[in-house]
Amino acid sequence: MKRRNFIQNGFKGFVAVTLLPKVGYSFLTDEIFNGGGCIPTTADILGPFYRANAPFRSDLQIVGEPGTPLIYKGTVYDLDCNPLPNALIEVWQANDAGAYDNSSPEYKYRGSQYSDALGQYEFTSIHAGQYLNGSQYRPSHIHFRVTAPGIAELITQLYFFGDPYIAADPWASDPDAALRIVHINNVDGIDTAIFDINITGHVGTANEDADMNIEIKQTYGGIVFTSPMAKMDLIEVIDLSGRLVKGYYDIHSKEFTIGTGELSQGTYFARIQLGKKITVHKFQN
Ligand SMILES: [Fe+2]
Repeated sequence: MKRRNFIQNGFKGFVAVTLLPKVGYSFLTDEIFNGGGCIPTTADILGPFYRANAPFRSDLQIVGEPGTPLIYKGTVYDLDCNPLPNALIEVWQANDAGAYDNSSPEYKYRGSQYSDALGQYEFTSIHAGQYLNGSQYRPSHIHFRVTAPGIAELITQLYFFGDPYIAADPWASDPDAALRIVHINNVDGIDTAIFDINITGHVGTANEDADMNIEIKQTYGGIVFTSPMAKMDLIEVIDLSGRLVKGYYDIHSKEFTIGTGELSQGTYFARIQLGKKITVHKFQN
């Protein structure tokens, strides 16, 4: 199909989605809900938990760990809306309980894959657990990083229709994310989501984590966080197993100290939010 047709179809689909009540999608085709077809896939924040070099695999399920199976798959398209083989697709997500594996050699619920000769990819995993971001839960989501030679990397997130936490989530409720909220079909007894990705380049401004330049210093008084901005919205301390240990919210100053006695000795991640930007730093206490 020609690019223009794709865009028109995608646009019609988008209008249909916005006008329909949020029930009973099953009569609609996947094409309408597949992430936008030839419309450039928009970016989302990298978030704090990306790890490079996740193992190449298509099955992310772990025997003995809880979770409802979920397949997410689709086709990667290039600038001219042709299927793109050999694009590197990296995904990462929370486990059933909403925690990320940030340190284990198993890289749980993380995987890499190259798109095949038809530009297709497929991961078999579980539904990602919702987790608290400040006082609100983030909706269930899958993180994607897609790269291919000569094409700007795309960092984005996939969301799912009907998730009650989308409306209050600043990233999922952004109009840019509308085509990345896909519906889940039960196919042969397994929840299945189609997410096509069009990597025509970087779209949107959400992925600006690198601009934050948060400084973290260990002092006698504790760990001092300094932001180049007037304030930090949130600092969360997460241990190596992904568990939230401490949360500090609505910090109305550019400097904030976590006192030495507030944390036991060890290695942690600090997840820091400024407006819609999030960054993470590893630190010792
Ligand atoms: Fe996340």
